[in-house]
Amino acid sequence: MQPQTKKYIADLALFAVSQIAFYYAFKYIISSLDPVKAKKKDAHEKGAKVLDRLGQGNLKLNEYEQVIAAEVIHPDDIKVDFNQIGGLDPIIRSLRESVILPLNHPDLFTSAGGLLGAPKGVLLYGPPGCGKTMLAKALAKESGATFINMHVSTLTDKWFGESNKLVAALFSLAHKVQPAIIFIDEIDSFLRERRSNDHEVTGMMKAEFMSMWDGLTTGEDTRIIVLGATNRPNDIDSAILRRMPKRFAVKLPNDEQRSNILKLMLESTKIDADFDFQRLVKMTAGFSGSDLKEACRNASMQPLREYLRTKGSDTKGALDGVVLNRDEIRPLRLSDFFKHDTNEESSSHVILEQEQVD
Ligand SMILES: Nc1ncnc2c1ncn2[C@@H]1O[C@H](COP(=O)(O)OP(=O)(O)OP(=O)(O)O)[C@@H](O)[C@H]1O
Ligand SMILES: [Mg+2]
Repeated sequence: MQPQTKKYIADLALFAVSQIAFYYAFKYIISSLDPVKAKKKDAHEKGAKVLDRLGQGNLKLNEYEQVIAAEVIHPDDIKVDFNQIGGLDPIIRSLRESVILPLNHPDLFTSAGGLLGAPKGVLLYGPPGCGKTMLAKALAKESGATFINMHVSTLTDKWFGESNKLVAALFSLAHKVQPAIIFIDEIDSFLRERRSNDHEVTGMMKAEFMSMWDGLTTGEDTRIIVLGATNRPNDIDSAILRRMPKRFAVKLPNDEQRSNILKLMLESTKIDADFDFQRLVKMTAGFSGSDLKEACRNASMQPLREYLRTKGSDTKGALDGVVLNRDEIRPLRLSDFFKHDTNEESSSHVILEQEQVD
């Protein structure tokens, strides 16, 4: 062979190799820049793990169902149970009777006309901080049904793909893992009154959601409930409201309810012998559950702060080498619920003003 031909072949081979190397390097860089891939992989892994723990690891899921599976919650991961919710016993009883039982014992509730059975939609509504999300969490822990905590952002995430397919996957996955509860918190933000200026995709997604939801009513043997929570029930589409025949008003707690909530919250706190509990109940009129929690938190800080100061926390900061003992902290007094520390700015009304004391 001519040396020139040899050189020509060698050049050609080198060129081909460099092109192939370039192709793979380029592909690698592009794929590592692709946010979809990593996100999808995370979601798939998370979903597979939860389903595995629930003993549903061998389900065959399509790509979209795998994304939705990441929203499934394992009961062991939830810390709230019904016993920690104060003052909502009638609602809890009703949820047990109308949601948990029909989902778990369909045989008791099947009737010829389909009159009995679990409702297909349940709505919890009421002012902020009164326990709606808490009720849903407790339901997730205690219902025995697969709980899908559907974040609207997942359905509308443009990286995951078409919202319509995700909505369809939500219902098909629920079908595969039933009995199931599909929970949508702040449902008003997703299914609010449809307007003419709605984005086309959102409109289509809502329509798809509603038609899939209707599919639940036709299948007698489906054990799936859509549970929604909102503090703006008036913003919800009337067609959606119709699909949620069971509604629970979670209102601001009255005296008796506040008394129950405060008892629960102060259960493990050391309380002064002449603590006027009824007075605290009266003085917190108008407080929501989360306001009460905040008030209790602020108040219980008071004895602790005093104790730390006696130990020299204002001069020594870190209290290095000082022996601290919980038992030396004094019990909680009613006066701890009043504003003391003027250095500390409090933006809410959860600290009672001093004027209210006689
Ligand atoms: N009935 C209650 N019993 C005990 N704690 C309560 C109760 N209601 C509210 N809380 C406390 O307030 C916090 C907030 O409650 P939650 O998140 O359930 O409110 P929400 O009704 O969902 O409010 P939003 O409408 O703003 O979402 C709870 O984590 C809990 O600490
Ligand atoms: Mg909430």
